Amino acid sequence: MTDMLLSALASVSDPSSSKPLPDSGRVLGADLREGTATIVLSPGGRDEDAGALMTAVETALLALPDVIRARVIFEAERAQRPARPSPAAAAAEPAKAPARLVIAVGSGKGGVGKSTVSANLAAACAKAGLKTGFMDADVYGPSAPRLFGLTGLPGLKKNERGIEPAEAHGVKVVSMGFLVGERDPVVWRGPMVTGAIRQFLNDTDWGDLDVLIIDMPPGTGDVQLAIAQGTPITGAVIVSTPQSLALDDAKKAAALFDRTAIPVLGVVENMSYFLCPHCGEGTEIFGRGGARAEAEHIGAPFLGEIPLHIELRQASDEGRLVALGEGPVAKAFHRAADAMIASAEAAGRPAPEIVFED
Ligand SMILES: Nc1ncnc2c1ncn2[C@@H]1O[C@H](COP(=O)(O)OP(=O)(O)OP(=O)(O)O)[C@@H](O)[C@H]1O
Ligand SMILES: [Mg+2]
Repeated sequence: MTDMLLSALASVSDPSSSKPLPDSGRVLGADLREGTATIVLSPGGRDEDAGALMTAVETALLALPDVIRARVIFEAERAQRPARPSPAAAAAEPAKAPARLVIAVGSGKGGVGKSTVSANLAAACAKAGLKTGFMDADVYGPSAPRLFGLTGLPGLKKNERGIEPAEAHGVKVVSMGFLVGERDPVVWRGPMVTGAIRQFLNDTDWGDLDVLIIDMPPGTGDVQLAIAQGTPITGAVIVSTPQSLALDDAKKAAALFDRTAIPVLGVVENMSYFLCPHCGEGTEIFGRGGARAEAEHIGAPFLGEIPLHIELRQASDEGRLVALGEGPVAKAFHRAADAMIASAEAAGRPAPEIVFED
């Protein structure tokens, strides 16, 4: 089995030594289990080369008929990884889903309120009694520390089961922001980023979660692929604002999830309309209903409309989550979270067996 993987890698050359990868001494582990091929590589060479190397390895593995999913793990510095017996044994561990429902929240475009919406959807799930986790995968602009009121946290601890998530408002939270500080420029690139993402997914002591919400970085790049290939994802929620530019980008996000065979659980329209904090009247500043039409277009459920409301902006900056309360904005999140969970339960269920009668 492993030999098959190694022979596939013979066509990939190691950028540092120019040798075929299996002869370079960088392959620390190889495993194929239930269609998932995992290759562990020692770090080395320049970060710029690592992205291309990862793509080459994945392409070579995916060409094998038995391989459905390929993972490349760059063995990170010893200090950053929880105690594990050996790299080869780590590769042999099958990728276990970190929660019963794993939901990636994405958007094609930045600044549409994806972090605000995903944190409040997580809070709504926790309020509804679900054991909930939140993973901030936005390594370049982590916002979970601010949204969950955890900016003073000195770092993340580890126990014998892995990274200990922080906890706020009944949600277990990990974020790159706990490691680098929200205002520090993140200079990590390529393999360090994907390595960190995979450790958050697979080496965190999440416990027995019902739902894990992943706040994806904006766009459709390497980090998105690392997440898609790093763990079994139940489905994705796309956040968009009603303007047509944002909707164009939402289409791109849907296409990426489609490419990685992740079902789209639905579309949430954020900043749907301005909800006046004084008179309670709604004003449709950007036009309304665009995301609902877009959801129909891509054949995904429409999960709900979140109004533009001053309280949401204020709460986000103060580390409060509006969805824990009961006002009209909170209710909008409760409805969207209910619809999201229903869609995820349906996607997570095995397809019914079709029985043909004679
Ligand atoms: N419905 C809303 N009403 C009022 N303010 C909002 C709403 N949604 C988001 N905001 C505010 O808009 C700003 C951007 O939101 P947020 O950080 O959640 O966006 P994002 O899509 O995650 O951005 P990025 O692409 O930078 O990760 C924040 O100041 C947030 O408080
Ligand atoms: Mg964000």
